[in-house]
Amino acid sequence: MTDEHGPGRITAGFREVYGSEPGGVWAAPGRVNLIGEHTDYNDGFVMPLALPHTCLAAASPRTDGVLRLHSGDVPGGVVELRVEDLSPVAGGAGGGDRGGWAAYPAGVVWALREAGVLTGADGGAELHFESTVPTGAGLSSSAALEVVTATALNDLYGLGLTPARIARLCQRAENAFVGVPCGIMDQMASACCTEGHALFLDARDLAQRQVPFDLAAEGLRLLVVDTRVKHELGDGAYASRRAACEAAARALGVRALRDVPFEGLEAALAELERLGCDAATRRRVRHVVTEDRRVEEVIERLDAGDTRSIGPVLTAGHASCRDDFEISCEELDLVVESGCAAGALGARMTGGGFGGSAIVLVAEGDAEAVSKAVTVAFGAAGHRPPRIFPAVPSSGARRL
Ligand code: GLA
Repeated sequence: MTDEHGPGRITAGFREVYGSEPGGVWAAPGRVNLIGEHTDYNDGFVMPLALPHTCLAAASPRTDGVLRLHSGDVPGGVVELRVEDLSPVAGGAGGGDRGGWAAYPAGVVWALREAGVLTGADGGAELHFESTVPTGAGLSSSAALEVVTATALNDLYGLGLTPARIARLCQRAENAFVGVPCGIMDQMASACCTEGHALFLDARDLAQRQVPFDLAAEGLRLLVVDTRVKHELGDGAYASRRAACEAAARALGVRALRDVPFEGLEAALAELERLGCDAATRRRVRHVVTEDRRVEEVIERLDAGDTRSIGPVLTAGHASCRDDFEISCEELDLVVESGCAAGALGARMTGGGFGGSAIVLVAEGDAEAVSKAVTVAFGAAGHRPPRIFPAVPSSGARRL
């Protein structure tokens, strides 16, 4: 972390806004997902890693039930709310999707109160945020904002919440207060990742394992390519993918698609066809079941110490996202095609899809040539140049 984005600067920002010293400074990171896309809300497996990019919060408690929120990144003054007035119907600070960043931290306070973790006037606080997580890039800037808020309040009020509980409450805030039907991956990644590791997570019971992911030791690099596009259809499509998966699970009589074993996939698809389930939904099922299998394959290869060999699994994951789950877009496909053509070991979209970012696994010596090839391909296709930077597996939420 640099001085430009560190405790000194955020403390000064807090002082300027609120005229006092903060009670502390906290950080929560954004993430990329190595493999396991749209599997989390199917109770399946995911494997994110935290980025060095973080959302910082300087915060102090208040005893009068007033919540004051300020962002150094978004123009506008302090948003002031009464914690007892927070409600998902009113949308709190105007509602996240319905108008503004403040709904995310407000939603977290609401979720903590709704769960009975905060009571009375507790939850009142002054918070000042600054973030280096790119927004709208599919790198979980919202989860970072939620998790840093919950982590700060957890410490300020001595709530004793575990990182996994924090993640659950933040997901609840985003689902019920902000109104985004996301799964648990992003919040778990921001709360639980550790430096030098990818997080293997079972989204059903939140069982987790920190998997060593030391790219440098193997002469490798994982590039994040932010396409800098976000296609409008993303939000509705996320909800409709989720609904299709849930309908298919119901039709098959299982709790979630995670319960369809890879070996039973063909039989399950035949059964769905017999039940009159449409071809698109059957492709969605095939994506989820094969994607869970790919997560397991990546784990096996990493456990065997062969990071290089995960490349083709990542690329196969992209094809499945593109063809079966239909959540890719021209720009993401172009990253994968041009990156692989220029010698990348593997590449895939990461996150929800319809724009945002892709990841590209390369041998260190090829990083520059691959980055250049992707940028040139974007230019030739008439797209804005993408933003490319290395994904260094970093630490989850913490007090600084
Ligand atoms: C978004 C959601 C996650 C997950 C991914 C797709 O990032 O917030 O819960 O579903 O999309 O894997």
